[in-house]
Amino acid sequence: MAEHIDVLIPEDEVERRIGEMAEQINMEYADRGVHLICILKGSIFFTCELAKKLTIPVTMDFMSVSSYGAGTRSSGVVRLVKDLDEPIEHKNVIVLEDIVDSGHTLHYLLHNLTQRNPESLKLAALLDKPDRRVTDVHVDYTGFTIPDKFVVGCGMDYDQRYRNLPYIGVISFDD
Ligand code: IMP
Ligand code: MG
Repeated sequence: MAEHIDVLIPEDEVERRIGEMAEQINMEYADRGVHLICILKGSIFFTCELAKKLTIPVTMDFMSVSSYGAGTRSSGVVRLVKDLDEPIEHKNVIVLEDIVDSGHTLHYLLHNLTQRNPESLKLAALLDKPDRRVTDVHVDYTGFTIPDKFVVGCGMDYDQRYRNLPYIGVISFDD
């Protein structure tokens, strides 16, 4: 089965938008600094690009959850694969996700992290696919709202491939 990738959001547009998000965070957290939580693996590129543009004090930690099999649909069951290294009590946390789809992952993360008593907790997602939402989650910082298409690149994969594409592409299959 051949796979095709069409560009949905070009590299320069992704970079520009992440810059705007960073500016907003720089302003809103100017007096506090921020503790970024990168949700592996999809958010690594988003996290790096955003973090490089932050001028406030930044600390970072990493967490890995899984809700997807090898296909393109969420199973709805979220599993903690790798926990944070450090407590988040009294920290001003922003969780960084690559994409919010059904909302199961963020719902789980929000519930899990709130119990650890952060000083504040916000959510940032590079992409939002609201058409597919089944759980109500509020995203504080959204990069782009996109239609119901399966996307790859900028950290996002199809069956673990294409994460390294510098743009956001839509994958399609012809048989
Ligand atoms: P949710 O739990 O359904 O909101 O899905 C969130 C996770 O599923 C994201 O963090 C991605 O890892 C993955 N995901 C959802 N949609 C896509 C997509 O279009 N391309 C690649 N990964 C996706
Ligand atoms: Mg993810």
